Amino acid sequence: MPILYSPAPNTWLIQPGLDRPPLFGTIQVPGDKSISHRALMLGALASGETQIQGLLLGEDPRSTAECFRAMGAEISELNSELVTVKGIGLGYLREPADVLNAGNSGTTLRLMLGILASHPDRFFAITGDSSLRSRPMARVVSPLREMGAIIAGRKAGSLAPLAVQGQQLKPIHYHSPIASAQVKSCVLFAGLMTEGKTTVTEPALSRDHSERMLRAFGAEIEVDPSRHSATVVGPARLTGQAVIVPGDISSAAFWLVAAAIAPDANLLIKNVGVNPTRTGVLEALQQMGAEITAENQRLVAGEPVADLRVKASRLKACTIEGDLIPRLIDEIPILAIAAVFAKGTTVIRDAAELRVKESDRITALATQLNRLGARVTELPDGLEIIGGTPLTGAEVNSLGDHRIAMSLAIAALNAKGNTQIQRAEAAAISYPDFAATLQSLCG
Ligand code: S3P
Repeated sequence: MPILYSPAPNTWLIQPGLDRPPLFGTIQVPGDKSISHRALMLGALASGETQIQGLLLGEDPRSTAECFRAMGAEISELNSELVTVKGIGLGYLREPADVLNAGNSGTTLRLMLGILASHPDRFFAITGDSSLRSRPMARVVSPLREMGAIIAGRKAGSLAPLAVQGQQLKPIHYHSPIASAQVKSCVLFAGLMTEGKTTVTEPALSRDHSERMLRAFGAEIEVDPSRHSATVVGPARLTGQAVIVPGDISSAAFWLVAAAIAPDANLLIKNVGVNPTRTGVLEALQQMGAEITAENQRLVAGEPVADLRVKASRLKACTIEGDLIPRLIDEIPILAIAAVFAKGTTVIRDAAELRVKESDRITALATQLNRLGARVTELPDGLEIIGGTPLTGAEVNSLGDHRIAMSLAIAALNAKGNTQIQRAEAAAISYPDFAATLQSLCG
């Protein structure tokens, strides 16, 4: 019996039933979203051809590909696991004839802004969907303006749509007030065409995929992880590369939690990126008592990769805070589900950034999980979750946020009775096959 139906467009109906087989077997997750964006962008800027294996074929990378096609990059259809990009060469982006649309993707907009602002004598206008148009852009506009960028937009340039008049920029050392890979990457990308050393120092280390990939494409990069700083020396020369994108640990996290809270589960998730700037979710789940092991650890095209095995576990509450937050920021929605099924009270703090993701994830998690009978309280910068209360199926809403949709689906699997998830189509942003995998694991 399938447990997941689509009774109406954009709706998932989850019927857990009593005789659900345990989560068992071997699966793969789609390509890493962060690495996919960067491969498309650097491939478009490089001289020569870039071949990308394992690219995420989700909505967000499609937005990136569409923007760079509009500026002259030849990118093959995003319909196979091998995507080729014929680069235009750094500095040779064409002025697009129309507004660039980043869709729902903060990474597309923020990283691209650094690239556009540093392309002299060209004008660019950029927008996104209603969620993206409400997300803060001052965090990238402000350092770019320090470099000499000319950017205008709503609310003094802090909200998209944004307009950019490309300039020759000057290098800066930017001390970012937040640990954000999007801010860091935006400034480093602006430094590619800027003569001299452009440095970003952040309060805690955020994901370092840009630094790794810039180095692979031939840019001169200096990193000092102990000071949380990275430097690019411009002007850079980028040469097309063969990129292999590992599975996304943020997507694997749904199955890590689903299996940890399911009776008798034993699941192997193959080929998952385990870059240490991203593995906070493994540490948090292990702290909660989840039985997770990393097997067959290896380095693939400059990124650490492993197969992750997870077994049914008895979870206990934990506290998630401090420098761990940037290393698991995207996994907090699914960690909240783990906390709902854990013994004791889990506290998540120092995570105010969650309020400016694809939705306000603090409010979204509290309101939607409480509809299922969970005991979740909002904190200004996080959540307090009293675990162990059984859930009852109800009607919930993803609020158009992909990670909320998938987290609610895993919660609903473990509720008594049926759950309808509205706006479930959002999952296609980062995981188009999520429903099919869920079906095949539990059906
Ligand atoms: C990302 C960085 C993170 C993360 C986002 C992807 C990236 O955002 O939440 O999903 O690819 O650089 P912040 O830089 O805003 O923390």
